[in-house]
Amino acid sequence: MGKIIIASDHGAISLKSEIIDFLKTKKFDVKDMGVYSEDAVDYPDMAVVTCNEFKKGGYDFGILLCGTGIGISITANKIKGIRCALIHDLFTSEMAKAHNDANFIAFGGRVQYSVPVTQMIEKFMETKFAGDRHLRRVNKIMDTEKLC
Ligand code: RB5
Repeated sequence: MGKIIIASDHGAISLKSEIIDFLKTKKFDVKDMGVYSEDAVDYPDMAVVTCNEFKKGGYDFGILLCGTGIGISITANKIKGIRCALIHDLFTSEMAKAHNDANFIAFGGRVQYSVPVTQMIEKFMETKFAGDRHLRRVNKIMDTEKLC
C-alpha cells in the first residue's frame, strides 16, 4: 500500500490518533510528524516541517490538522509545490482530488463535522483526478508560484 504523512498542532491530537489508526487498518504506512502532546506549538512550524518532508518524495499525500484546519492549510499553501485543500464534507473531499489534485488535505480537531473525518479521507483516496480542463487549471495554480 501507499505511504501517507500526517501532522497536527496541539488542537487535533486525538483526531490525529484516530486517523492514524484508520490508515493502519487500511494497511497504509504512516509517517507521523507529531505533535504528541497537548503542549502548545505553532501550527506554521508543523506545516513547514511536514511539507518539506513530503517534498523529499515517496508519499501518496499528506494530512494536516490544527484546531480548525485553517491556519495549517494557509501555511501549507505558501510552500512551493503544495496544494492543500481544507475539507469539510464528502463533496469537498471528492472535489479536492477530482478537480484540484490536492497533495494535502486539512481538517480541524475542534470542528464538528457532519461525517467522520475518516470517511472524508476514504472518499479522497478512492477518487481519481479528472485531468483535462482541471489539469489546465491546476497548472495555472502552480504557475502562480512563479508570478507572485
Ligand atoms: C491554536 O490555538 C489554533 O489557533 C490552531 O489550532 C488553529 O485552529 C489555527 O488555525
